[in-house]
Amino acid sequence: MSSPGPAKIPQHVAIIMDGNGRWAKARGLPRLEGHRRGVETVRTVVDAAREIGIRYITLYAFSAENWKRPADEVSGLMGLLDYFLKRELDNLIKNRVRLLTIGRAEALPANVQRELNRVIEATKDFQEWTLVLALNYGSRTEVADAARAYAAAVQAGAEKLADASWENFNRYLYTGAAGIPEPDLLIRTSGEQRVSNFLLLQCAYAEMVFTSVLWPDFGKADLQAAVDEYGRRERRYGLTTEQIKSGPA
Ligand code: IPE
Ligand code: IPE
Ligand code: MG
Repeated sequence: MSSPGPAKIPQHVAIIMDGNGRWAKARGLPRLEGHRRGVETVRTVVDAAREIGIRYITLYAFSAENWKRPADEVSGLMGLLDYFLKRELDNLIKNRVRLLTIGRAEALPANVQRELNRVIEATKDFQEWTLVLALNYGSRTEVADAARAYAAAVQAGAEKLADASWENFNRYLYTGAAGIPEPDLLIRTSGEQRVSNFLLLQCAYAEMVFTSVLWPDFGKADLQAAVDEYGRRERRYGLTTEQIKSGPA
């Protein structure tokens, strides 16, 4: 029997941070208290991801559909985002983590956009670690935005219709345009087993791990457990196990 190789570490982990509301409800607290605790988890998980060696971590923080929540919850979430960005700037710089966003950031409140731009600018030269915040993000909106940009490029003569391909289209997605690789591992907390309009195309071959842990309770050991589970999976991309075992043709 061959000895096990080095543990496989996913290069990019995407997380659907879910369960803040249920965490609060279980304690008789307002939903916003769950979100507040969820922000603490973000710091823990970003630090843990670096310690594990995960180069890209994408967090689904606010979906395009989340605007439909009660107005006080939406404004509370925006306030927390502003607080998070102000508080984390020093930590991100100290740990050399670059911040990127995906989603229609232009619809976020002006003060949040200002903070975002400040942190993005201050961390833009870091190359080793990347934190991507999905803000006002929806996969279908992303595809619509990409299709529009691609069509405009064809109209302007920068792209040829005859060259239309996944590889070329991908460069117009928020992720492709920012040079963010596809997620290797998608984690969703809180027991829900759905993707909720998150990175639908980019997760075409992502391994998925669903955990019943609520986001405010999620910690380094839970992230490590998901990475371990990822390490036990065989990614076949349509090939057979035998082909995978015999290595690249
Ligand atoms: C996830 O927690 C945070 C956001 C969607 C912003 P939820 O607020 O969705 O928590 P549950 O699903 O109601 O428990
Ligand atoms: C997905 O969670 C969005 C975020 C984690 C930001 P939701 O709680 O909004 O998803 P649904 O409504 O349960 O599908
Ligand atoms: Mg939810």
